[in-house]
Amino acid sequence: MRILVTYMSLSGNTRKLADMIYANIDGPKDLRELSEVQSLDAYDLTFVGFPVHQFGAPAAVKDFMERNAKGKNVALFVTHAMPPGTDMLKGIMAKCQAPFAQARVLGVYDCQGELAESVAQHLISSPDPQLQEFGRMRAVTIGHPDASEVASAGEFARSIVAMVSSG
Ligand SMILES: Cc1cc2nc3c(=O)[nH]c(=O)nc-3n(C[C@H](O)[C@H](O)[C@H](O)COP(=O)(O)O)c2cc1C
Repeated sequence: MRILVTYMSLSGNTRKLADMIYANIDGPKDLRELSEVQSLDAYDLTFVGFPVHQFGAPAAVKDFMERNAKGKNVALFVTHAMPPGTDMLKGIMAKCQAPFAQARVLGVYDCQGELAESVAQHLISSPDPQLQEFGRMRAVTIGHPDASEVASAGEFARSIVAMVSSG
């Protein structure tokens, strides 16, 4: 079984999970930025990681996966600024799966990721009160993903690989 870990990460949060997932896979495996991946055809399983952008998957992830993920085994790992447990986050996570509608989604792992200071400042100085509020959320995101969230991503990887290995 050959496994790909591919990810998009602007400020390094999702990359931390990608590294941990990759480290927890035994056997043939590749770790690549999504921009370097041409196709998923060579892989029996692909872990796909990305940050939430504008309440869903980033456009680059949508474009690539809508074209390439059909019929493939995938497991998703996602970071976001929103704290866990809110109804809004549930909606966002459901939306993040839309580009994988034709794939076989074996599992989804998500956790908070620090909102970059430059992004927070940009949002706070916007005229839109909703965006300002979002920018002020940075305080509750600092330090994420933390060590336990990164470790859980490793456990997630092991459980998904075991699921695929057992058929
Ligand atoms: C352009 C942009 C849009 C974002 N939109 C959202 C959002 O809608 N919801 C959310 O929870 N976080 C949002 N975030 C925060 C990121 O998802 C979060 O900080 C993530 O951990 C960044 O991951 P990365 O370091 O791998 O890029 C946004 C960040 C950026 C840069």
